[in-house]
Amino acid sequence: MTVKEIISKYGNKRENLLQILHDIQNQNSQNYIDEEDINLLSEEMNIPISDIKGTASFYTMYSFVPRGKYIIRVCDSPPCHILGAQTIFDALEKKLGIKEGEITKDGLFTLEGTSCLGVCGVAPAMMINDEVYGNLDEEKIEKILEQIREKESK
Ligand code: FES
Repeated sequence: MTVKEIISKYGNKRENLLQILHDIQNQNSQNYIDEEDINLLSEEMNIPISDIKGTASFYTMYSFVPRGKYIIRVCDSPPCHILGAQTIFDALEKKLGIKEGEITKDGLFTLEGTSCLGVCGVAPAMMINDEVYGNLDEEKIEKILEQIREKESK
């Protein structure tokens, strides 16, 4: 779908901006909203570019820089933190060879921190794209990454 088509799907009223940004980002193969799309959005919706960026940057789910096909979000809210979220984060950084906000060389993964995912009962937790994983430890992380890599190599 083009940006124009996405806008016409929701209507060009400002109240639809977040949903439109969501769809634009989702259809980008690198999971971000690029400069060209923002310019077009600004023209079509009559909203200043700075305003669009300011609104989107309030939410952690939007990105203006390219990201991996799989976005790993590790919960860093207190319940997960107490149960070892930092260890999970460190392990992921080591296994992926990237720091927070970076993208792996193969373009597959981006690592981010996030606030509570709503599954505190299975802390520490993370989300990869739309899927939530809980009761994490290094071994489980290894398996999850392996499964994704295997799927991608087919
Ligand atoms: S604090 Fe991590 S899922 Fe709620």
